[in-house]
Amino acid sequence: MTDVTAQDAPEMNTQPTGTVRVWDHLLRVFHWALVAAFATAWLTADELQPVHEFAGYTVAGLVAFRLVWGLVGSRYARFAQFLKGPGETLAYLGDMARGRERRYLGHNPAGAAMVVALLVTLSGTVFTGWLMEDKTRVAMLPAMPAIVAPAWADGDGDEFEYGERGEVEGPLKEVHETLANLMLLLAALHVGGVVLASFRHHENLTRAMVTGDKRGPGPGDIV
Ligand code: HEM
Ligand code: HEM
Repeated sequence: MTDVTAQDAPEMNTQPTGTVRVWDHLLRVFHWALVAAFATAWLTADELQPVHEFAGYTVAGLVAFRLVWGLVGSRYARFAQFLKGPGETLAYLGDMARGRERRYLGHNPAGAAMVVALLVTLSGTVFTGWLMEDKTRVAMLPAMPAIVAPAWADGDGDEFEYGERGEVEGPLKEVHETLANLMLLLAALHVGGVVLASFRHHENLTRAMVTGDKRGPGPGDIV
């Protein structure tokens, strides 16, 4: 989909305050519920297993909702509106480095790539957590390619081991923890990107994720 600049844009529904609604209600509830559920899963890991799992499944439900909302949600929630190819994303990052990136009313291409990275990593974290819960779940997976299997299986060829306190050990847990740590890194980069873009375009993007509204488009902005 080609970008539409403010000049060529169809009439936007500008409010008397000069702002436009960008993030719909459900998308905002999704965002802050996801932040709360992810934080809860992190803080309860290895401490309060029932809460950990409940928070993890809440993350799963929210990600599932977001996938559907990316197809049927409001304009700026739709994947087709904000997902860009690698060329456009790299060009945007180059513009950022030179301090001349355009303002996007919805997600900019770098932010959009981060949305995908966050959703994919969250899905992987939840999926490996779910697998760890029961040996039979791993058995249901299609046979692993021969090249991965030796690295995956430890000495006795088992994905599970149990420690002295009965806690789960083994490669599956390692993958789960690595994905959870990767999530922490991505979340930090995500918040860093939000703060940076807020300064560059003189608007508080975090507040926009609360109210749903952003400053109306100016000349050259991508709507
Ligand atoms: C308190 C810290 C956080 C703040 C202030 C924050 C703020 C924001 C803002 C302002 C946006 C919109 C970005 C834009 O204008 O393009 C956004 C989007 C997003 N954030 Fe965060 N975020 C935070 C933490 C997180 C965490 C921890 C996660 C993941 C667990 C996350 C996941 C997402 C996702 C998936 C989107 C895309 C929204 C959508 O279109 O569905 N955020 N965030
Ligand atoms: C986004 C969601 C999740 C995050 C961020 C997360 C994070 C973590 C982390 C960091 C650990 C390592 C704790 C430690 O030993 O230091 C852990 C362990 C674990 N997680 Fe998750 N997790 C999530 C979802 C889930 C889900 C959905 C399940 C299962 C339904 C699950 C099951 C487990 C289990 C069984 C362990 C091992 C606990 C033990 O040591 O016995 N997790 N998780």
